[in-house]
Amino acid sequence: MRIPHCKRELMKGNKMESKFNDERYLTFALGKGRLASKTLDIFEKIGITCEEMRDKSSRKLIFVNEELKMKFFLAKGPDVPTYVELGSADIGVVGYDTILEENRNVYEVLDLGFGKCRMCVCGPESAKDLLLHHERIRVASKYPNIAKDYFYNKKHQTVDIIKLNGSVELGPLVQLSDVIVDIVETGSTLRENGLGVLEEVCPLSARMIVNPVSMQMEKARIRELVMKIRAYLESENQENK
Ligand code: PRP
Repeated sequence: MRIPHCKRELMKGNKMESKFNDERYLTFALGKGRLASKTLDIFEKIGITCEEMRDKSSRKLIFVNEELKMKFFLAKGPDVPTYVELGSADIGVVGYDTILEENRNVYEVLDLGFGKCRMCVCGPESAKDLLLHHERIRVASKYPNIAKDYFYNKKHQTVDIIKLNGSVELGPLVQLSDVIVDIVETGSTLRENGLGVLEEVCPLSARMIVNPVSMQMEKARIRELVMKIRAYLESENQENK
């Protein structure tokens, strides 16, 4: 009989072993790009290193720290909560925007404090009145769920949402939409295109998320990790004061 892959993993030398034991790897999914690089900086500060991951020329997908029994992989931001919810990763690091948009069953355990920006309703000055009078407007966004929640549940305003995949600021410029719901960091993309922030939806930053089963089965390791990162972030904050 063919043993399913997941069961084979649980069997070692004729004896069943718990998938969750001391030898088990703790697996991290990190959102590609700036967030991953900043996360690795923090991990290094608390003694978790993964040199190989810094090598931008490498096409390798999974990196292992054998000593610490940890595995790391990089994924597209919106896929990180998926890997974590479904248990391919125990822990993920991703922007709060993605957590809200994907709405996956994961625990958010830590605000990492970097990658700070804001989710905003933006557009030309002329759109202010449309918002004020709850007109039925067109809203372009890479974040249709966040946009829908904001307009329907918080503002009780009926709008038409148009999903875009990037360069969302184009929406009002080419009359595709009246406003956009998008991330604002420095505000320069808006300024350079004659647009501005009209309303703030919520503040954003990088967050650590955990699979609910891992949270129970790997409680000690995860708790220790979170405590170390939190202590490091607090000491860094003190220094910057
Ligand atoms: C993000 C966001 C804005 C811009 C905001 O886009 O969607 O366009 O950054 O940053 P700023 O306030 O500092 O100008 P990103 O660079 O991720 O590319 P995208 O437009 O393809 O989504």
